[in-house]
Amino acid sequence: MARGTLFNQLRSICPTISVGVLTADWMHLESQLELITKAGVGLLHFDVMDGCFCPMMTMGPPIIKAVKTGLLKDVHLMVDAPLEKLDGFLEAGADILTLNVESCLHLHRALQILGERKNANDPARGIIRGISLNPGTPLEVIEPVLSEIDLVLLLAVNPGWQGQRLIVEVQRRVERLKKMIGESKRDILICIDGGVRKDNVANMAQMGADILVTGSAVFDGKAPFENARSMIDALGTASPKS
Ligand code: DX5
Ligand code: ZN
Repeated sequence: MARGTLFNQLRSICPTISVGVLTADWMHLESQLELITKAGVGLLHFDVMDGCFCPMMTMGPPIIKAVKTGLLKDVHLMVDAPLEKLDGFLEAGADILTLNVESCLHLHRALQILGERKNANDPARGIIRGISLNPGTPLEVIEPVLSEIDLVLLLAVNPGWQGQRLIVEVQRRVERLKKMIGESKRDILICIDGGVRKDNVANMAQMGADILVTGSAVFDGKAPFENARSMIDALGTASPKS
């Protein structure tokens, strides 16, 4: 299926950040989202965890649907057996839907289904189909589905445990992934998620990451505008390695 306009729009703003909403001040969510939008953020990252695939429970489609925003909804499913749950997240307005490969028995089928669905916000946009790999999952798992994906997310922390530091091996993984994608001749976005901070965001982009997911480094309870702005500025100066 031809890609919608969304992929080209995303490609044009990379490298960029996608801000994790979990640690936002939910009692003042509207003003929090206004602040990061003003800072130039374009993507809002929803970490969906079911307490089965990983130990934490976070949110489902009703919460995602209730968040009214002009930001693109970047939904990261860390849930058991996502195949039957996809439509709920699409109806909630997911623009990017990323599935953890370890959670999905029928990964290829799930991606095929996503490829047939319309974007609930705007049919012309299309849906960005992503797969996510835990830090311990070999990169080779992406080979069989390269023709069905728009994005690969490398987790730089083990999902579901708070306050972790970025696992440094992810830098070598990004470089290898960039090479694998290059050899496939497909245009696929590379995303790093977890432990991304002001002091490592530019380096991650230089390694080849297109989208950097960062939650607690932006929504730190103090200065979300300044945090987001400084990371976007740092990316503005990052020229990815050729
Ligand atoms: C895995 C999630 C991450 C993470 C955010 O746990 O996918 O988005 O919670 O991590 P920080 O807050 O370090 O950016
Ligand atoms: Zn995530």
